Amino acid sequence: MNNQIEIEELVDQFTLFPGTRYMGSKNKIIYEIWEILKHIEFDSFLDVFAGSNVVSYFMKAKDKAVITNDFMSISYYASKAIVENSSTILTDDELELLLESPSNESFISQTFKDLYFTDEENKFLDQVRANIELIHNEYKKAIAISALVRACMKKRPRGIFTFIGHRYDDGRKDIRKTLQDHFIDNIQDFNKAVFDNGTICQANNKLSQDLNKTADLVYLDPPYYSPKSDNDYVRRYHFVEGLSKNWNGLEIQDHTITKKFKSYQSPFSKRESAYDAFHNLLKKHQNSVIAISYSSNSIPTKEELSNILKEYKNDVEVHEIDHTYSFGNQNHKRGNKSNIVKEYLFIGR
Ligand SMILES: C[S@@+](CC[C@H](N)C(=O)[O-])C[C@H]1O[C@@H](n2cnc3c(N)ncnc32)[C@H](O)[C@@H]1O
Repeated sequence: MNNQIEIEELVDQFTLFPGTRYMGSKNKIIYEIWEILKHIEFDSFLDVFAGSNVVSYFMKAKDKAVITNDFMSISYYASKAIVENSSTILTDDELELLLESPSNESFISQTFKDLYFTDEENKFLDQVRANIELIHNEYKKAIAISALVRACMKKRPRGIFTFIGHRYDDGRKDIRKTLQDHFIDNIQDFNKAVFDNGTICQANNKLSQDLNKTADLVYLDPPYYSPKSDNDYVRRYHFVEGLSKNWNGLEIQDHTITKKFKSYQSPFSKRESAYDAFHNLLKKHQNSVIAISYSSNSIPTKEELSNILKEYKNDVEVHEIDHTYSFGNQNHKRGNKSNIVKEYLFIGR
């Protein structure tokens, strides 16, 4: 009887995942992906481009020993908070310290004045971000940073920072709710998402090419180069990425209207370097089962990617998943159908 309750709790755990509208997130097709992956025998799972962490969190809820990686630190902190972390939560007293401890910090208020948030909201962000440094436990800190990041994304029209001001403000509830209320609710959401699946999970924050970890099943979902859509994660999320690092080590490009910092370089998002990057990655993980998410209209083409995978794996299957991205480019606004992207899952054994 107790066993039954435990099993049900674990299955329901996935519904507690604090999702975001992260570009390229597999949130909407996670069950379709699982229908394919569940036939593979694996205890450990490596998510090399974890993004929103939805796939990793799902696998953690399926009892797998999960290793995540992403070069964005917003992804890393969320992963640290709810994938690697199995038991630590942020208490009400610590939340009070974050909200109430006075601070003279004014970096955000000065640098981002009149860009994304009001003066009062910027002051709130300065104070909370400074107070997060008073917390020393790495998991509590990761929960606080992730909650602040998610609060900013929810409060922001379209959840992105590629434009300034309040264009696209549709008055929806999340935009009317105060930043402080978003933050408090998000602390609860991240706390609730913490659980132990009985394995050791681990978060990494490296370039895929520098990651020296592998697993029984390696999942690759890189940012494909596509002439039709933007795949620059830093351009889209620079404000929250900067916030998560407290802008340490980042140089803001003062001439930009959005005050973004220089994008990280990814070999996957450029046509010239994508092919070599795939070869190197597949070679590195050739002793594991490899699953690759792939969208149509991308470079390498579907046939090219299939041929590259066959160089490293004897048995290659290609599964098609029907899926229409809700954003990623602007074409849906013009009513054309070029945003109808087909999703594929390649499996190499
Ligand atoms: C398509 S998204 C992954 C989406 C993820 N599967 C999900 O469901 O949310 C690609 C991710 O790769 C990361 N990325 C891009 N180039 C990278 C590199 N060279 N090394 C590590 N991460 C990289 C980006 O930050 C982005 O989060």
